[in-house]
Amino acid sequence: MITELLREVHIAPSILSADFGHLEAQVAEVMDAGARVIHVDVMDGHFVPNITVGPVVVRAIAPMVHERGGVIDVHLMIESPERYVERFAEAGADTLVVHQEACVHLHGVLTQIRQTGAAAGVAINPATPIETLSEARYFCDLALVMSVNPGFGGQSFIPTSLAKLAAARAFLPQNVALQVDGGVTIDNVAELVRAGANWLVAGSSVYGHGRVADNFRKLTSAAGAA
Ligand code: DX5
Ligand code: ZN
Repeated sequence: MITELLREVHIAPSILSADFGHLEAQVAEVMDAGARVIHVDVMDGHFVPNITVGPVVVRAIAPMVHERGGVIDVHLMIESPERYVERFAEAGADTLVVHQEACVHLHGVLTQIRQTGAAAGVAINPATPIETLSEARYFCDLALVMSVNPGFGGQSFIPTSLAKLAAARAFLPQNVALQVDGGVTIDNVAELVRAGANWLVAGSSVYGHGRVADNFRKLTSAAGAA
């Protein structure tokens, strides 16, 4: 299932901007509207200046996401992520995306992730060149180009990320999915897909205002996603 989803265009709602008091309902709402990739942002207060959730939240939503044919995409904004790979995989993560900047032994971590059965992803911050993935591109299933500085939802898209995505698409092997995260809106989602991104994370533009299901459907149709 994950292999097929990685080949398709998907809006991935980020629960960072959801109402955590009604998390199950908020996830159900986007899945009923067609979402199949649920993005979970894990922050440790060290790699980024914010603290969010751990494996317990992945475990809480995994059954309903999987029952509905979806996957949980876990974005680890933490130092030394190799310490937590197995715990997130056991909790139900379908992807584990680590930051290039947080991994001294990136090849080792990506291999460790694949050994759990999860898809292995590598993320780069806005100031990190795509060329830093010249080796890792052959050991990963997904590359994430951050289009804001990680840590918070609701930030503005950094405009140079568009050209970076196009360069990333040309640089990555065809079988590596290209994800963009940060400041994705109804106004830029189509050009992001044209640049080659196929998993588009959307937090505040799904959960921030208005009706969640409508927001998701509009983004999906603007992206030309399945
Ligand atoms: C930011 C997180 C994002 C965040 C995106 O560090 O990685 O996933 O939820 O939020 P928006 O879509 O509001 O920019
Ligand atoms: Zn994220």
